[in-house]
Amino acid sequence: MDRFRIAGGTRLQGTVRISGAKNSALPAMAAALLSPEPVHLKNIPRVRDIITMGRLLAHMSVRVETPDLPPTDLTIQAEKISDAEAPYELVRTMRASILTLGPLVGRLGHARVSLPGGCAIGARPVDLHLKALEQMGAEISTEHGYVAARVPAGGRLPGGQVIFEKITVTGTENILMAAVLADGETRIENAALEPEVIDLIELLVKMGARIEGGGTSSLRVQGVQKLCGATHSIIPDRIEAGTFLVAGAITGGAVEVAECLPQHLVSLIAKLRETGVNIEQPNDHTLRVCGSRKLIAADVRTEEYPGFPTDMQAQFMALATQADGASVITETIFENRFLHASEMMRMGASISIDGRKAIVRGPTRLQGSSVIASDLRASASLVLAALVAQGMSYVDRVYHIDRGYERIEEKLSRLGAHIERVS
Ligand code: EPZ
Repeated sequence: MDRFRIAGGTRLQGTVRISGAKNSALPAMAAALLSPEPVHLKNIPRVRDIITMGRLLAHMSVRVETPDLPPTDLTIQAEKISDAEAPYELVRTMRASILTLGPLVGRLGHARVSLPGGCAIGARPVDLHLKALEQMGAEISTEHGYVAARVPAGGRLPGGQVIFEKITVTGTENILMAAVLADGETRIENAALEPEVIDLIELLVKMGARIEGGGTSSLRVQGVQKLCGATHSIIPDRIEAGTFLVAGAITGGAVEVAECLPQHLVSLIAKLRETGVNIEQPNDHTLRVCGSRKLIAADVRTEEYPGFPTDMQAQFMALATQADGASVITETIFENRFLHASEMMRMGASISIDGRKAIVRGPTRLQGSSVIASDLRASASLVLAALVAQGMSYVDRVYHIDRGYERIEEKLSRLGAHIERVS
């Protein structure tokens, strides 16, 4: 099992190019199930979850091609779908497999998808997805760890009024993909506003879907008979960009984050500036974090977009260990997303957890240690902590980080970090 060996203490310098967003590429790949024609996706990140989604689609006899050049392009064609089922052995390695449910029901009128189960950060239920499909006229049953959805009278989903009692990103994406081929109109209230949802809407519209209200929490979808193929470039990964901004800040370096979209990072940039981080925006696709000014404690509360992203909470906690004062971090989205805190405490951080709140007191000199990653963003935060710790650190179970970061050790090495992957 791979792990990273990191010698802390180097100030990062240089330019890093941001990859495509995993959380936009995954629904985009699932959306290809909606058409018999080829969908060409560009700027796909080369991360493990993408490979898993490709395997899942291939299991359904969907053609998935990654041309040799460029390796970040992907062509998917669901001319025929042999098996409208997402099996447990694939779903258990990637919860986002639930994103095949909506398009399969939309296109075929039925689907059987393994329930994803929980993960380290929480129970991760999909009840809101299923309730919304029922509101659209689907019949839902759960048996033997699978959810089966079907249109009772056969044919296509009627569509209907969906009100999400809680904002859900993949729930919104699933229902959008079920609605675009429905037999009537679907209105979705309290829809998620994340940029990845907007990116999916753009792809669906390119495929011929009729969707109004993109960018707002009220969406209206007129079902159409058929969707055609399309070509679409995936948006840059705002969480990867945010992670590298923190890497520059925590090491007091000068890092240029290129090929990103600063408008997707407004709340993070504001919070980093409040913490005393120097951030400049030389153009619409670049951010620069520079200088090693003294960091000051700031409170953070994670919220749905455009609030502070929960996927940046762990990374911010690492930075807070170096800030002067007490930072109160409140995690409002997931019930168990502080697993990285105990590992940081082993490195010398001063953190106390009280339910959904973590109080981080700094600055503390972190010592290089052996730590274990528990989930994707926790592993990123432990790498950040190791970059500023004194001495050598080992971060175990880096398969978590490989799920959502493309060759992070190579990108960090190019910025001067002493990091290598050892097995
Ligand atoms: C998406 O997960 C992202 N994953 C997550 O990124 C991200 O952390 C999350 O949105 C929040 O922004 C992908 O897009 C593939 P939710 P998702 O449904 O859709 C509860 C990463 O690090 N809920 O918006 O699963 C849920 O438990 C990952 O890349 C229900 O109760 O998140 C959570 O508390 C981690 N019932 C809250 O809603 C449901 O049916 C928000 O979850 C669905 C969700």
